[in-house]
Amino acid sequence: MYSEKFKAALDAVAAKRDENTAYEPKRMTADEKDALLKKYHPDYRVDKFETLKVGKNKGEKVPTELAAMLQAHSRIAGKQIPLDTPDYDVDVLIIGGGGAGASAAIEADKAGAKVMVVTKLRMGDANTMMAEGGIQAADKPNDSPAIHFVDAYGGGHFAAKRELLSKLVCEAPEAIKWLSELGVEFDKAPDGTMITTHGGGTSRKRMHAAKDYSGAEIMRTLRDEVLNRGITVVDFTAAVELLLDENGAAAGAVLMNMETKELLIARAKTVILATGGAGRMHYQGFPTSNHYGATADGLVLAYRAGAKLLYADTLQYHPTGAAFPEQILGALVTEKVRSLGAKLVNKNGDVFVHPLETRDVCAASIIRECDDRGLGVETGNGFGVWLDTPMIEKIGGAGTIEKRIPAMMRMFGKYGIDIRVEPILVYPTLHYQNGGVDITADTMTGVTNLFAAGEVVGGIHGRNRLMGNSLLDIIVFGRNAGRNAAAKAAAVKQGGLTLDHVTEFEKQLKDGGVETDLCSPKLLPDYTREVRS
Ligand code: FUM
Repeated sequence: MYSEKFKAALDAVAAKRDENTAYEPKRMTADEKDALLKKYHPDYRVDKFETLKVGKNKGEKVPTELAAMLQAHSRIAGKQIPLDTPDYDVDVLIIGGGGAGASAAIEADKAGAKVMVVTKLRMGDANTMMAEGGIQAADKPNDSPAIHFVDAYGGGHFAAKRELLSKLVCEAPEAIKWLSELGVEFDKAPDGTMITTHGGGTSRKRMHAAKDYSGAEIMRTLRDEVLNRGITVVDFTAAVELLLDENGAAAGAVLMNMETKELLIARAKTVILATGGAGRMHYQGFPTSNHYGATADGLVLAYRAGAKLLYADTLQYHPTGAAFPEQILGALVTEKVRSLGAKLVNKNGDVFVHPLETRDVCAASIIRECDDRGLGVETGNGFGVWLDTPMIEKIGGAGTIEKRIPAMMRMFGKYGIDIRVEPILVYPTLHYQNGGVDITADTMTGVTNLFAAGEVVGGIHGRNRLMGNSLLDIIVFGRNAGRNAAAKAAAVKQGGLTLDHVTEFEKQLKDGGVETDLCSPKLLPDYTREVRS
């Protein structure tokens, strides 16, 4: 239920709803998109970035908040850590308990490796669990991996590493089959064929979904499989530093019990980073759709160990984060809402962008409408635009919302907003790190025996990711990382463990003139401190 202050804006949307439902907004030209992004997309706010002074990406710009973490002190700096009596000794250590980590664990276990997953929260507390709209795969007769590639390559501004994107799209149909066989209940028509929809920037309907809680359904299934296989999972335990061996190869991690702060040593023949994203860094003060632990830890660990990052200056602001009510500020309003027909409308009731332009373009258009044109709706927490959800029922018929996006209906229903008859207010929310650790097609980082998969990786999607390609990449690259790390572990001749790289990095900070009293990785956001200060 909206208060009286929204009445004029609500009336404006309702008055034009029939006309807007029938209206087909024009697509932008490439030049129009470029100009829009440069002016309004947060990635182009030069004052919000900082040049790195140390490490493999020295001289490159990254978000200021990330630079602070990449150039902070180690949490174990100056501590004596006994490396010769490891608490755990495994073949493959997987850091992160989301979809990529779970997929890797399943495949490494299948390959016969002794596997351990460590996660700073619980298995499944991850962005995978929060994913809503679906997972792309070109498995319908009118589609092909080549068409999927073209969509994603263009959507990512032709910056994706082609060998990674090619792997992503070519292994997508098999990923869907694998998930189905494990027990994921994808939406199906009565004849058993998968129901697929469009996402922004897709030329074919290839989004497979489990209503609007696709990630939860996938994570539920993967977690069950990990547990059923008896794979060791150590919850509430963060990796705070990677261990290398004398030859510079990854050889485990220093772990920290999140409750007692006790430090533990895990020795491993190979390590997989699957630590996820960075939404809780709240770059540029944006709210986020991400889970509580998304604090860029993997980037910090890998960087300090000598890995290179790729496109760490590019983030994805999902166009439709909830802008009202305050209790759900930044929560994801799935793109599927727009796939099903809802359009973005300003305070005068006018449609101002095609709803399925790519995410960066849609987000920049909303920012332009609110911050420049003065056509946003005042929410009490800033501005937002309408996402006119009742259009969905007009297009698909009564009951479509309850059937296809029940979680959205419930989320707003809790606050007295019935999205079947009332529109919702949205504004971009920090959703995804497009950049991350640079890997090869065999999922190896620049550090020998250190593999990476999932959102911690950069380069698969270029400088903008299409909807549904992240749930896909955690499966495709998670599985590959698991297989590759297990195979490599079987051949590893490990030297003695060392933390010399941490000492060396501290020296680089000093030599580079970096003055900081911060420690990293961040591990969890500190809202209490931020509110109090
Ligand atoms: O809008 C969404 O449902 C998000 C999907 C994604 O990030 O892939």
